[in-house]
Amino acid sequence: MQKPTIKRITLKNLTAFLMALSLATLVILTVNFRSISVRIMEDKALAISEVIKAGLTSHMRAEIMENREYFLAEINALTLVNNVAIIRSKEVIEQFGEGHWREKEHDHVTEQAFTSGQPVFILNDIEIEPYLRAIVPFIASTSEQLNCLKCHEVKEGTVLGAVDLRLDLTEYRNTTAKLLAAIGLVTFTFIFLIVVNNFRTIQRYVQDPLNKLIRRGEDAYYTHTPIDADEFECLEFENVAKEINLFTEDVIHRQAVIEKKNLELEAMSDEIENTLQETIFTMGVIEEQRSKETNNHTLRVTKYSQLLGHLYGLTERELELLAMAAPLHDIGKLGIPDAILLKPGKLTKKEYEIMKNHCLIGYNMLSHSSRDVLQSAAIIAFQHHERWDGTGYPQGLVGDDIHIFGRIVTLADVFDALAAKRVYKEKWAASKILAYIEEEQGGQFDPKLVELLIKNINEFLAIKHRY
Ligand SMILES: [Fe+2]
Ligand SMILES: [Fe+2]
Repeated sequence: MQKPTIKRITLKNLTAFLMALSLATLVILTVNFRSISVRIMEDKALAISEVIKAGLTSHMRAEIMENREYFLAEINALTLVNNVAIIRSKEVIEQFGEGHWREKEHDHVTEQAFTSGQPVFILNDIEIEPYLRAIVPFIASTSEQLNCLKCHEVKEGTVLGAVDLRLDLTEYRNTTAKLLAAIGLVTFTFIFLIVVNNFRTIQRYVQDPLNKLIRRGEDAYYTHTPIDADEFECLEFENVAKEINLFTEDVIHRQAVIEKKNLELEAMSDEIENTLQETIFTMGVIEEQRSKETNNHTLRVTKYSQLLGHLYGLTERELELLAMAAPLHDIGKLGIPDAILLKPGKLTKKEYEIMKNHCLIGYNMLSHSSRDVLQSAAIIAFQHHERWDGTGYPQGLVGDDIHIFGRIVTLADVFDALAAKRVYKEKWAASKILAYIEEEQGGQFDPKLVELLIKNINEFLAIKHRY
């Protein structure tokens, strides 16, 4: 999964934080606004009940109590005011009788106000038509300007009655809702603007310069040109660009040193390889000289072997090993006494047996080394007198059991021996050589190699003429 970008993480966290903050603010505002509104409405209810009390007292003192219904109807018609009713205490009923329809009966809420002598408020703001019901008791008093006991035959402190009214909260609630909606809208607009602003800031001052820095860093590394630190608006990126330049410069310098060392090592390695190759070849030539072999036999056998290996499909490395190892195929002859090695005539059976030992002698000379060149040379020295049909020596290996290097050098060695003049024979014509080799296809020689040689005989003859 792709990892989130700095921009995405920042904006996600910022948005979550701002949303939580504004929701908390909205909740606090709503709760406080509600309690303030309720308090205002309660004060309003108390004020209206005070007005009613004053109005009723005035009617009483002016002895026009029979007209109080007009007054109460006017109060009832005030905005927000609903269901104004007066409840008489039993003392007032006893003194003045039952009231009219606005002077209603007790319920358990009005009882509570009468018992406690304190206003009772009931808030219902979750219904479709929200309201606040207030029951405000009137207490008989002599301390105020209106001495109640002048008219009422009660003791001071008696609850004379109560105003029971309802205030309609619909408008208050609507206003509150509108206000909160407006606050919410403004808040979310700000959140949106903050997020957008942050988005642009991060994009411009973090994301873009970071991407640019990555691209410029790659360019600096591959093209070896420093980053232009002035391209960046912020100090931090400018500093990073400068650091990258220092780092790249150092890396490039080290790379150059390593490359130089590598070239030196390669040259040294080539030198060693060439020296080894020449040494091996010289060893082959020493043996060639001592055996009084035809001139350049070692070189030609090497060239024929290389050509056969190439035609056979050996790898580059195998061809290299073959070319380096082939000159040593007869190195074991260094261990054969001169009397046998240089004998002009035919060898006796015993002498021939001693002569055959050159394979094992060569193998013993070379096989102690762990280097693959000498290992290959040991195999060739050991196997270059084996025959495909299994009648060769020293092991009598058959077919593919003979290493491909051994099979190749066998054919190359014989081909050169036949094509050159020896003490015991004249050099053969190409047709005679081919006839012999074909006759030995599957006998002395690997049939596939014979096939390749016959098919490409001109290339082999070209080597013979050249060397
Ligand atoms: Fe040999
Ligand atoms: Fe040879």
